[in-house]
Amino acid sequence: MNIVILAAGKGTRMRSALPKVLHPIGGVPMLQHVIKTATTLNPDRIIVVIGHGAEQVKQTMEASRDAKSAPPLHWVLQDPPLGTGHAVAQALPLLNNTAPTLVLYGDVPLIGVNTLCRLIESAENNRGMAILTALLNDPSGYGRIVRDVQGRISRITEEKDADHQIRQIKEINTGFLVVPTDRLSAWIGALDNRNAQGEYYLTDIIAMAVQANQPIGSAQPENTTEILGINSQEQRAMIERHYQRQLANRLMQAGVRLQDPDRIDIRGILSCAADVAIDVGCVFEGTVTLDEGVLIGPHCVIRNARIGTGTVIEAFSHIDGAEVGPKAVIGPYARLRPGTNLGEGAHVGNFVEIKNSTLGSRSKANHLAYLGDATIGARVNVGAGTITCNYDGAAKHRTIIEDDVFIGSDTQLVAPVTVGKGATLGAGTTLTQDAPADQLTLSRARQVSIKGYKRPHKKEH
Ligand code: UD1
Ligand code: CA
Repeated sequence: MNIVILAAGKGTRMRSALPKVLHPIGGVPMLQHVIKTATTLNPDRIIVVIGHGAEQVKQTMEASRDAKSAPPLHWVLQDPPLGTGHAVAQALPLLNNTAPTLVLYGDVPLIGVNTLCRLIESAENNRGMAILTALLNDPSGYGRIVRDVQGRISRITEEKDADHQIRQIKEINTGFLVVPTDRLSAWIGALDNRNAQGEYYLTDIIAMAVQANQPIGSAQPENTTEILGINSQEQRAMIERHYQRQLANRLMQAGVRLQDPDRIDIRGILSCAADVAIDVGCVFEGTVTLDEGVLIGPHCVIRNARIGTGTVIEAFSHIDGAEVGPKAVIGPYARLRPGTNLGEGAHVGNFVEIKNSTLGSRSKANHLAYLGDATIGARVNVGAGTITCNYDGAAKHRTIIEDDVFIGSDTQLVAPVTVGKGATLGAGTTLTQDAPADQLTLSRARQVSIKGYKRPHKKEH
């Protein structure tokens, strides 16, 4: 099979400099969803017709493509766009004439594989041709399916060319169709643009097929949301919610407890084991794995992370590029940045930032700390306000804190520096040299008290 994806339209109503088909659904360009679905059908080749922002569209999509596992992707330019029939015409030289052609749309991203299989099956039962239609309560804006008295499709009339009677028809053209490729070439060659929009309509091939005694099958989508196109920011947002709801439903079917399936956003791949619970307002990006029993509080952002069994992440935590747990406790208001590794039972409390650091098992940093480029052993207590001074203005340096260390509050560790096993650092220490194991190290000005001291007073008027 050939698959042609039409993606040359300008998308004026998006009111954006970004080409329409690159606007995201679930964090990836809408066109990428269509290419993925096309790939699942295992076609001989996929041809994408691009026009507006062609170079940017092509580069963005090629960059995110796994060339090894996918069928060949061909790009053809349509400039200027003179209609859907003209768009398909640009792809004709690349089509395999002995296989049928399926037409998809770069701005209709939720079209499902099952629906397309129904359409393909209907084509197989009708000498290679079928169109996907839908019954809509409000058909306005769509081309209407005109059937004869026997119920056979006789033509498609665009709304702008339709009279009052035809506008009453509720069966619409979704645009998706399968056509025998040799016949498609002939019919496309015979199209004209004598219509209300002055365009070459792909839909006009239907009447030609009827003339040529080509039977035309029809199929309907599993779900009408699949055929919705994106022309505006409102429609993008609506389709995004449909897509998110699908992902949420799949998670719940796998046993995940979502506090509210309409208040979760997944922009990538979220894998959850049993008994995971996710509160409202969480955003997942990239590849996130939540092991068994992980609990996530409200309004967390988690990106490219693995969270171990039984870990609890409290509200408003931000986790990016971290390996966590099992049985860790994080937040509220924690920030774990790339390269963070938390051991079993580690605690990271409010307003703690960790970057490129390991915090060993059962170690705690419970309040207001910054740990950057640090290797911290097991059972370490990091006091409130502790800071690794890892950057000297030119280079980053490491801090090493061995097992069983106790760090008093408001300590600064000026890296590179090592704190030996079992050492204690007094509160307020500025550590500039290594602290030996098992000893108390502190750096503090000696405390003095001045008798009879008088505070200055403001003059009275
Ligand atoms: C088209 C159908 C209409 C159907 C509707 C479903 C035609 C003539 N009409 O109308 O029957 O109900 O889709 O949504 O086909 N495109 C190009 N190059 C062009 C023109 C369009 O690549 O020159 C692409 C657009 O980017 C878009 C798709 O084709 O992805 C549909 O084009 P659009 O102008 O939106 O067609 P409609 O008028 O909505
Ligand atoms: Ca349109």
